[in-house]
Amino acid sequence: MLTKGLNIGENGHLFIENCDTVELAKEYGTPLYVMNESLIRDNCKRYKNFFADNFSSLSFPCYASKALSCLEIYRIMKEEGMGVDVVSGGELYTALNAGFPAEKIFFHGNNKTEQELRMAIKYGVGRIIVDNLTELEVLNDIASEMNANVNIGFRIKPGIDAHTHDYIRTGQIDSKFGFALENGEAKEAVKKALGYSNVSLCQVHCHIGSQIFDTEPFSDAVKVMLGFIAEINSEFDFLIKELNLGGGLGAKYTDADSPLEIEDYLAPVAKTFHETCSKLNIPEPSFHIEPGRSIVGESGTTLYTIGNVKEIKGVRTYVSVDGGMCDNIRYALYKAEYTVLNASKSQGEVLKNVTIAGKCCESGDLLKEGTDLIEPKRGDVLAVLTTGAYNYSMASNYNRILRPAIVMVKNGRSRVVVQRESYADLLNNDI
Ligand SMILES: Cc1ncc(COP(=O)(O)O)c(C=O)c1O
Repeated sequence: MLTKGLNIGENGHLFIENCDTVELAKEYGTPLYVMNESLIRDNCKRYKNFFADNFSSLSFPCYASKALSCLEIYRIMKEEGMGVDVVSGGELYTALNAGFPAEKIFFHGNNKTEQELRMAIKYGVGRIIVDNLTELEVLNDIASEMNANVNIGFRIKPGIDAHTHDYIRTGQIDSKFGFALENGEAKEAVKKALGYSNVSLCQVHCHIGSQIFDTEPFSDAVKVMLGFIAEINSEFDFLIKELNLGGGLGAKYTDADSPLEIEDYLAPVAKTFHETCSKLNIPEPSFHIEPGRSIVGESGTTLYTIGNVKEIKGVRTYVSVDGGMCDNIRYALYKAEYTVLNASKSQGEVLKNVTIAGKCCESGDLLKEGTDLIEPKRGDVLAVLTTGAYNYSMASNYNRILRPAIVMVKNGRSRVVVQRESYADLLNNDI
C-alpha cells in the first residue's frame, strides 16, 4: 500500500513528492520525519473550500495542533487561513511565536493550570474551551482579577459511541473530558456561566474520538449538540452561537483502513446540520471542526536505517532500526498498525513475517509485527508510512535518544523545519 504523494521510482526507491527517500536519508540522516507539505496544504484547502461553500462566513476549520506542533506547521496553518486548537501552554507558546493570530486559537484541556489560563487571557486567545465546573469558577476569578472578559466554550460529552479504539474514544460519559449531557452537568454549567460576569459563553464543543471512518457518529453528534443549543435557548432564553464538532476523521495506515475523503465526511454532517437547525427552528450557529490526523497523518513518513536482521530459528526474525518507541510510541501504546516498506528496493526476495524492532531498552519497543519486507539488509532505508500525526508530538528522549529532524518536501525539494536534537540539547536543563 502507498499513501497519497508516494511512488516507487525507476531505481526502485520510495519517492515522496518527487524526492528520493534514500537520498533524503543520506542528506539528513535517520531517523527522519518527512512531511509532504503539498498534501498538508491541499488537505487544508479542501476543508476551507467546503466550509466556504456550506457554512456561514464566521465558520472555519481549526487544525488540532496536538497532532504535530512546531513553528512551521503553525505558519502553514496561518497561510492556509485555518484556526488552530492548542491543549497546553507549550502549544500556545509555539503558535504565538510562529505569528499565529491569537483570536483564531481555541484553547482546550481537561486540567489547564492557572498559569496557562492567565497566559491564554493575556494573549487574547479566541476561545477557552472549559472542561469542568472548577475550571469555570477559577477562570472567572482570574479573568475578574485581570479585568478581562473571556469568550468561552464548553466541552460536552454527547454520549455518542464512536466505534474506535478505547484510548481514543472520548464522547461517552465515562471520559475524563468535559461535561456530560445525560446527567444534567452540562446544563448546570451553562446556568453557572450565565451568572458569571467575566466569561461569555459562545460555543459548545464535542470531540467523540479519533480515527473514525463512518459519518453516522458525527451526524448523531450534530443532532445531539444542536438539540442542546435548542434546549438552552428555550429554557434560558440564551442562544449559543457556535458549534464545534472537534476532530476525528480517520487516516489510512494500512489496507484495512478506508477513510472517507474530506468532502464525503463533511457533506452528511453539513446536511444534518442545516436540516436539524431548521427542524429545531434555531438560527444556524457558526460551525467549527478540529481535524488533526486527517490533515497531517498521511503526509508523514518516517525513515530509518536498518542496523541488523536477527533470525531466531523457529521463533521470529527481528529487523532492528535506529529509532523506535522514542519517535513513534503508538504501537507500544495501543498496538497501532502501520505499513512498513523497504524504501531502498522494490524487488527481491520477500522475507515473511518479520518484526520491526526499535533500539530502546524495552522488549515492547516494536514498530510492527508480522510484516513482509523485501530483502532487508543492514544499511537499507526502512519507511513507516502515515506517521505525520501523533508521532513527533509524542516523541521522547527515552534512553537519551535524540529526537529526529523534520524535513518538509514539496515539488521535489526538501527543507529542514525542525532540526535533529544534539547531545548538547540533552544537557540543556541539567544542572
Ligand atoms: C478536542 C480535540 N479536538 C481535536 C482532536 C483531533 O482529533 P483527530 O486528530 O482525530 O482529528 C482531538 C484529538 O484528541 C481532540 O481531543
